[in-house]
Amino acid sequence: MILVTGATGMLGAHFLLELTRKQQSVRAIYRSETKRDLVASFFAYHHAKDLFSNVEWISIALDHPQEVEEALEGIELVIHCAALISFDAKDEKKLFDTNVSLTRCLVDTLLVKPARLLYVSSVAALETEDPSYYGQTKYLGELEVFRGIQEGLEAHIVRPGVILSDFFWKSPSLSLFKLAFRLKHLCFEGETGFIAADDVVQCSLKLIDQKEVNDVTLVSHHMSYCELINTIREGVGKPLATKAFSKDKLLFLMRLTQFIKRLGFRRLVLSRGLIETLYTKTRYDSLDTYEVFSSIPQRDFKQFVKELAVTYKREKGILY
Ligand SMILES: NC(=O)c1ccc[n+]([C@@H]2O[C@H](COP(=O)([O-])OP(=O)(O)OC[C@H]3O[C@@H](n4cnc5c(N)ncnc54)[C@H](OP(=O)(O)O)[C@@H]3O)[C@@H](O)[C@H]2O)c1
Repeated sequence: MILVTGATGMLGAHFLLELTRKQQSVRAIYRSETKRDLVASFFAYHHAKDLFSNVEWISIALDHPQEVEEALEGIELVIHCAALISFDAKDEKKLFDTNVSLTRCLVDTLLVKPARLLYVSSVAALETEDPSYYGQTKYLGELEVFRGIQEGLEAHIVRPGVILSDFFWKSPSLSLFKLAFRLKHLCFEGETGFIAADDVVQCSLKLIDQKEVNDVTLVSHHMSYCELINTIREGVGKPLATKAFSKDKLLFLMRLTQFIKRLGFRRLVLSRGLIETLYTKTRYDSLDTYEVFSSIPQRDFKQFVKELAVTYKREKGILY
């Protein structure tokens, strides 16, 4: 049996769907009924309503070793997706507690009640210059896993780039679609690696059978944010964004929104960490550099983004 943490999130739900399609028995951890219902809707959206009932759902606190130990009963593999993704300075403690402490608790428990571990990290863990706090916590999470490996844990680490998917339009990474629809002329010059959620799942499941390779980056396509925004806009026939928004202007806007927030008017949406991300150019090893993924079909990534854009437009009813 496979245990999935963070099963109510975008990636966790994709793991559940694929594993149940493969007739694997799966136990999934959830915190709220509402989020669990969202996963039921995701299964229905993918015409897999019946498979949802094959998932055994449990609600436990991941920072409670005894509850984690109980959840590990009969488990051979843990897919650890639970994490907080945030670039907001106010979330620093929460980021540490979620991304580091929960991973530490899981690793410690796995050392007394062994099962294999697949830890979903992020390319953000590789950031060296001016790393975001989120990136630092994902890196510290990895260190917990490497410590576990030293102590005898069998584990793999995957570091996906920005993950794209349908349905979970409120997910942090999919807010790029909202941006692309909202910002008619503006885009951002930074560049990063992207991957489809389905491909993260396929590659991860391939990796866990490997003895030689422990950790990989999962990136199928590099693009600047400008390119991504324009691929989305092209997909729905919108005029392309022609002006790269300068970092200085965005930092000014951030200070302005912070000031307005202090007056109590609106929620802070811009943070320095997010801005750094939007202006950093980074390249990673892509899928085709790994022999282990050679049997996974490469997708036309730009076409995939355009199709997502059409779906986003249809489902959000955002038309200009
Ligand atoms: N999205 C990306 O672009 C991206 C890129 C690279 C790596 N990753 C990594 O991929 C993994 C999954 O990301 P995602 O996009 O699926 O994120 P997501 O949609 O935000 O889902 C996060 C999941 O973690 C759970 N969670 C958060 N805090 C928790 C806590 N304290 N205790 C228990 N569960 C908790 C959430 O539960 P609730 O539903 O109850 O909140 C949710 O199920 C994360 O490790 C993330 O760092 C994501």
